[in-house]
Amino acid sequence: METYFSANPRATKKLAGGWAASLRPGEIVALIGELGAGKTVFTQGLAAALGVQKNITSPTFTLLKIYPARRQGIKRLVHIDAYRLKTSADLDSTGWLDYLDDPAGLVVVEWADKIKHPRLRRARIVRLAVQGQGRLISFS
Ligand SMILES: Nc1ncnc2c1ncn2[C@@H]1O[C@H](COP(=O)(O)OP(=O)(O)OP(=O)(O)O)[C@@H](O)[C@H]1O
Ligand SMILES: [Mg+2]
Repeated sequence: METYFSANPRATKKLAGGWAASLRPGEIVALIGELGAGKTVFTQGLAAALGVQKNITSPTFTLLKIYPARRQGIKRLVHIDAYRLKTSADLDSTGWLDYLDDPAGLVVVEWADKIKHPRLRRARIVRLAVQGQGRLISFS
């Protein structure tokens, strides 16, 4: 496991952008960390590195949002935020399982620890935690 200290949101985006180079289409990124740990900021950095032009926002009432991407064979970034997830049926109705099978998609899941699903077992896990004024970010 590699752990980094990020002093500010810009540094988090930069770290995410560098790490994004290791991502392949079809992969799943599981972001785990408390409220305000920087999961959305991290996703914004990933997205920018993958050529997403729209600004990624937290999908407050939608569980899932799709952004066109264009790098490394990744054509779609699928952003899932499981924070408000109550039942797995709610998630299933978004069609998320189809996106997991999309060979040109990259699925990024905030609050991935709230989803107990065997399909997430192969996810690349990123943990974020508040550390003073900054954040600790680890990749496993
Ligand atoms: N080093 C840092 N990296 C990322 N965000 C930071 C950092 N330092 C401070 N912040 C602040 O922390 C907040 C992180 O917000 P963000 O929405 O990314 O968190 P989150 O983990 O997605 O939260 P939520 O669980 O509500 O979705 C922002 O207000 C950001 O400005
Ligand atoms: Mg968020």
